Formats: sequence, structure tokens, C-alpha cells
Amino acid sequence: MDRYAVIGNPISHSRSPLIHRMFAEQTGEQLTYEALLAPLDDFAGTLRGFLDQGCGVNVTVPFKEQAWQLVDSRTAAAELAGAVNTVQRLEDGRLLGDNTDGKGLVRDIQHNAGFDLRGKRILLVGAGGAARGVIQPLLEAMPAQLCVVNRTVEKAEQLAMLFRDRGPISAAGFDWIEESVDLIINATSASLDGELPPLAPSLISTGHTWCYDMMYGSEATVFNRWAARQGAARCLDGLGMLVEQAAEAFLLWRGVRPDTAPVLAALR
Ligand code: ATR
Repeated sequence: MDRYAVIGNPISHSRSPLIHRMFAEQTGEQLTYEALLAPLDDFAGTLRGFLDQGCGVNVTVPFKEQAWQLVDSRTAAAELAGAVNTVQRLEDGRLLGDNTDGKGLVRDIQHNAGFDLRGKRILLVGAGGAARGVIQPLLEAMPAQLCVVNRTVEKAEQLAMLFRDRGPISAAGFDWIEESVDLIINATSASLDGELPPLAPSLISTGHTWCYDMMYGSEATVFNRWAARQGAARCLDGLGMLVEQAAEAFLLWRGVRPDTAPVLAALR
């Protein structure tokens, strides 16, 4: 049977095995999907060990940048993202790296939530790997402006520089921006620590601004609770993005895109 896995550290919390098993059942694809814990100092060994036999892997925190280094070739999306979340073993044994995170985010916002990004003013909070991975797909959706805001302003400026030929992108520090926007996306890791980026409440226009936290949990994230208090029109979490990026990986591996709606409903 064709074998797949998600590799990370930690990994026991991962919902990817459940998601891919539901996809397999729905599409009739014959495969297994497991969760693998890689030692922090030997991701390469775990990856190669599994892909001697296995057909593909998903890669999660903190190994996406290492995966980018280790693959033999990359899709355009992975190249720009600087990180790989999906690896496919090709017939000749070479490893192809893709990044489906950004596509998953945009699909969740536009298709599942019905928010058209075209012409919108978007604030992307954070300038680490998670933020970088979603910039190109966001710019492809033709927003009026994508402003990257980060605690360490230099990192936001570097990202804006890197993508400047690809769309209307700018950079800012938290205390530079106050005017309301149409959508705020939290791509910082602050939610993991229960912390809130120091965003001005005036960025949210009551009943108009949408907020999206790329994190998710059993309860609303600190960012989404803050956004709701400021009167955001909608507060979405990253569970939809997780399911959509998984569907894109499944499509790459199996050539069929599963229907994500019933899977997302089951997870909720
Ligand atoms: P990831 O791969 O999840 O993006 P990362 O590359 O370490 O992880 O980046 C973490 C991001 O969250 C950075 O933008 C970081 O801001 P700095 O670049 O200034 O460090 C941001 N971040 C983490 N904790 C934060 C907090 N408490 N407030 C604001 N930003 C935070």
C-alpha cells in the first residue's frame, strides 16, 4: 500500500493523519498516513528513512525550511515560500518539494468563507516563515495593498523587498499603522504563547474588518478574541487552512482533490 506521513516535532497533536484518512476514504484512494516524530537534530534521517519506501510526506514545525534545503527540486510556490510543507518522491527517486500553505489559506478565505480578496487592503501580521509562505498566493488574489507588519521591522522590510515585483506590498512597524483595513491575517507565533501582537484597535472598522488567525485551537485564539472585542465582522481560525493545504497535498500526490467541506465539518 502507498505510504504517506507527516513529520514534525512535536507531532502527537497533528490532525493531518485524520484529515488524510478521511480524504482517502472519500476518494477511494488506497493509502496509509501516519505521524512521525523526527529528532530535532535529525530531520534528514527521518525524511530519507521514510521515503525509501514511502511515496510522500507533509512537513510541519520546525522542519519546513530544512525540507526546502533537502529536496532535489521545488515547485515555484515552494521556491518563493522558502519552505516546503509537502514532499513527493518522484519515480526516479528524486524528491520534489511543494508548499501548499498559501494556496490553502487563500482557498479558505475566498472559497470557504466567501471573502473576495481582490481590491482589499490586507494587513499581514508577522514576518517569519509562516508569513513568507503565504505572500505570493495572497498577491495573486490581487489585493489593493498587502502590508506586512512585524515587531522586528527589518524582517517585514526584507519580505516586502523580496516580493516587491509581484504586487502592491509594503512593510511597517506596529506603531506606524492605525488606519483601518479590510482584513487582518495573524501569521505570528504569538498565539502559541497566548500572546497578542500590539495592534492598534483602530485597525478594525466595526462590522467591516475580517480577521484570520492562521493558528487554531479548541478555543478561540487570543488574537481572535481581541478582534471580536473590537467588533470585527468575522473572526476565522486556521483549521480551514489546515484542511485546504492538506487537500492540495493530496491532489499533488494522488491527482484528485478531495471535497474539504465534510472533512472540515467533521473536525469542527
Ligand atoms: P513561523 O515559522 O511560525 O513564522 P518564526 O519564523 O519564528 O516562526 O516567526 C515568528 C513570527 O512571530 C515573527 O514575525 C515574530 O516577530 P519577530 O520577527 O519580531 O520576532 C512573531 N512573534 C512571535 N511572538 C510575538 C509576540 N509576542 N508579539 C508579536 N510578534 C510575535
